Amino acid sequence: MKKIIILLFGIITVIGCTENKKHEKQDTKIQANTSKTWWKEGVLYQIYPQSFKDSDGDGIGDFKGIIEELDYLESLGITMVWMNPFFDSPMIDNGYDVSDYRAIHLLYGTMEDFDTMLAGMEERGIKFVLDVVVNHSSNQHHWFKEASSSRDSKYYNYYHWWPAEKGEPPYRYSIFDPEGAWDYNKATNSYYLHTFAEGQPDLNWENPKLRQEVYDIMKFWAEKGVHGFRMDAFQFASKDTTFPKFPEGHEKDFIKWYGMRPQLHDYLKEMYKEVMEPYDVFAVAEGAGSTLQDAHDIVDEDRYELQTAYHFEYVDMAKEPGSFDLTEFKEIFTKWDKSFAEDGWLAIFLANHDKARIVNRFGNPSPEFRTVSAQLLNTFLLSMRGTPYTYNGDELGMTNIDMPNIDDYVDIEALGNYKKALKINSDMDEFMKILNYSSRENSRTPMQWNDSENAGFTTGNPWKSVNKNYRDINVEAQDKDPNSVLNHFRKMTKLRNDNEVFVYGAYEMLDKHNKQVYAYTRTLDNKKVLVLLNFSDQESEISLEEIKQVETTLINNYSSFTSTDSKVTLKPYQAVVMTLKK
Ligand code: GLC
Repeated sequence: MKKIIILLFGIITVIGCTENKKHEKQDTKIQANTSKTWWKEGVLYQIYPQSFKDSDGDGIGDFKGIIEELDYLESLGITMVWMNPFFDSPMIDNGYDVSDYRAIHLLYGTMEDFDTMLAGMEERGIKFVLDVVVNHSSNQHHWFKEASSSRDSKYYNYYHWWPAEKGEPPYRYSIFDPEGAWDYNKATNSYYLHTFAEGQPDLNWENPKLRQEVYDIMKFWAEKGVHGFRMDAFQFASKDTTFPKFPEGHEKDFIKWYGMRPQLHDYLKEMYKEVMEPYDVFAVAEGAGSTLQDAHDIVDEDRYELQTAYHFEYVDMAKEPGSFDLTEFKEIFTKWDKSFAEDGWLAIFLANHDKARIVNRFGNPSPEFRTVSAQLLNTFLLSMRGTPYTYNGDELGMTNIDMPNIDDYVDIEALGNYKKALKINSDMDEFMKILNYSSRENSRTPMQWNDSENAGFTTGNPWKSVNKNYRDINVEAQDKDPNSVLNHFRKMTKLRNDNEVFVYGAYEMLDKHNKQVYAYTRTLDNKKVLVLLNFSDQESEISLEEIKQVETTLINNYSSFTSTDSKVTLKPYQAVVMTLKK
């Protein structure tokens, strides 16, 4: 019970493991996914604008700050940027509650600053991906303000309502609100639905007028020159609007009950025709349903819906301290890769603004192993098939903060979960331990640029405290150190950008039962590479026939490694990439 409450994004995702028939390709020949496009070849970097760089001393990151760091972005070797929402918003969920989809929030600057930033990225060969938050709007959007003033408003049907004369609405779980997903509105004598917070009413995608409004918004940004869209929480856009009573315990299969209705595909096909095709832009869905088949139904090329998606099964691992299991990790990545070897394309990611830092979850934040384990994780991310997504700060190996007291939390998710946990009499010490480890506040701390006060993020008072370790972990220091996490990241992006085998090459896992080492090959035409990753704080051995074919070492986060015949001994968190003779 307790776990369900704590890890709400977890709930949504846990479920997604049902194998499907059509795409179960565990035993078929491994193939390379070869239809070539820029968004498959790209390396994406996610910027959390509030925490990236503040140019005006108000303690909040802004566009001008990002403009100051365009050369840094270019130096990373990334080719795409996805930025979290920066639109007008009351900011109850850090911008995921939009009150005007065409206006820039004052905190971040002006539309002119946005254009300058976009042009600067364009000049550096970086394509921009906009966050489109249209499963819900803010309750401060004029659509909702008008809709909630009268049932006769032309915007009433932009949202989901339950007229009070029908009695109490059937229970719906809310991801952020301990009181559930319906809220009563007096002026209309109706309840409105909010899958997330009370201030985030769900938009009614069944209404063609609403859909057209959304396409118009997307066209507005496409005309400005953005190249892609990230569809926030989109799997919930289509739901059963007869609002039947759901059976007890239904939340365990959250996506099935709360979203992913067949109409979703009609909406996406329509969106493709209206926006993606004419503007030649791409789109990625946050979430990809519950099953492999659900994901295929969204991204396969012959469907003309979205081009790519990120499913939650990867990111749902390691939710509690000490729960990371490499065998499970390997299985999950391998299962999804196999299923998408021929059709469809996915994002590869370990983190984002909704998760804690990767070093704490999958690596080792101790001073001894932080650098090597961060390098190992970036080696993994940048050598797998799928478009890699790096969350800002992970190229430095930034770590979690320590926040044992609930009073220090500001995030709506953490606070909502705290209330939910209290309501069901959870063990609150245990709750706080897990929250401290897994909360998304961990990844939202300011970017660490140098060792000056506030890590060079701001000259003012930062909106969120800087991680105390900024004197050890920062861009300036790592830039000078050839063995830093940052320079390792740059080596990896260069390797990927220069060698198609890392993009399109077929993936094969080796020695799947090895509990410490993740080993795999990538193969394209006459090129074959071997990746060896020791996910353990101990020396680990692996024996592979492939070792006999090693030609050259492309990447090694230590100065050497030991091999005899077919056996390799890897140091703690050692990451090695080698070419093989074919
Ligand atoms: C998505 C976003 C998350 C936000 C939620 C509601 O999951 O990634 O940050 O809170 O949608 O918009």
